[in-house]
Amino acid sequence: MMRREAGKEKFNSRFLFLHERDVRMEKNNFSLTALGTAFMRGYHARHDDLMIFHDPLAYGLLTEKERFLIAKHWISRLESVDAEGAASCPDEASALRLALQLCTGASVVLSRARYAEEALRNAIGLGIRQYVILGAGMDTFAFRCPQALKKVEVFEVDHPATQAFKRKRIAELGWNIPAGLHFVSLDFTESSLSEIQALSPYDPTALTFFSWLGVTYFLPRDAVLDTLAAVAGISPAGSMVVFDYLESNPAGNGKAAGRLKAIADSLEELGEPLKTGFDPAALGADLDRAGLRLLEDLARSDVQRRYFDGRTDGYRASEHIHFALAAVK
Ligand SMILES: C[S@@+](CC[C@H](N)C(=O)[O-])C[C@H]1O[C@@H](n2cnc3c(N)ncnc32)[C@H](O)[C@@H]1O
Repeated sequence: MMRREAGKEKFNSRFLFLHERDVRMEKNNFSLTALGTAFMRGYHARHDDLMIFHDPLAYGLLTEKERFLIAKHWISRLESVDAEGAASCPDEASALRLALQLCTGASVVLSRARYAEEALRNAIGLGIRQYVILGAGMDTFAFRCPQALKKVEVFEVDHPATQAFKRKRIAELGWNIPAGLHFVSLDFTESSLSEIQALSPYDPTALTFFSWLGVTYFLPRDAVLDTLAAVAGISPAGSMVVFDYLESNPAGNGKAAGRLKAIADSLEELGEPLKTGFDPAALGADLDRAGLRLLEDLARSDVQRRYFDGRTDGYRASEHIHFALAAVK
């Protein structure tokens, strides 16, 4: 049986985070899901054997206390989603492992990062000169891949509150900000991505690769489409964008629907509810209107085949989540 204090109240990590004066933002809250996805990448690098995506720096961006709070939050989610599974875990470490593989979306986070950086490497081979990470969160590419920064300028675009949090953390850690890394604070619901041109040394004539991971879910549909149109508007033909999205009408059997609901509930609890999905059958036309050509749209079975087949642990591709790659026309 998992060790637990009898009668312990349900754990609410958002509540605890918001009462931490040192990490509280003045106006808006920084993204807790950005901390959560950093935890997933960091945990995977430290505790799993077979790497889906190797990010040995991600854990470093979180304090021990944050890691503790996030782990508690997920163990608590496991208890509500799969009480039997939770009870079968001999200790909290096993419960955390099971929670990560079962009810957090870690498989999506790891495989989309792998997909994006594989596509990025191909794009660097084709001569792209800029890499724009939209909704970067705790992304560590610029610190992890110094060799790549000799070939591409990197732009991290994020919500002002999340970016301020990250920059403060980087300063506290004493990490050096590489010369080729530029920060752009921007709220996709209030400003256009095209402002990146005024806010940074971004060059609209240079072939550019954009990644947009774990963000479309949380924005109104118009903000997603406007941002994709801005990608096309500020970069030359042949530039590329990779993003992940949720199917707009996820149907499914009981188990799949249950897994999706568990993740949706967890996001709601963190104050970042799911807002937007897309119909895969209409995505090509949606992108076409935004000035983009859909090159690839990976559904669950494609992601499973590419990144998860042969694994014996619980990581597996998620139903209703797609990875898309598009080029500027
Ligand atoms: C789930 S995190 C993903 C972070 C990172 N891309 C990853 O995959 O780990 C969501 C990110 O979207 C950003 N975001 C959410 N809403 C936003 C908005 N309206 N404008 C700009 N960024 C936003 C958050 O600040 C956060 O960094």
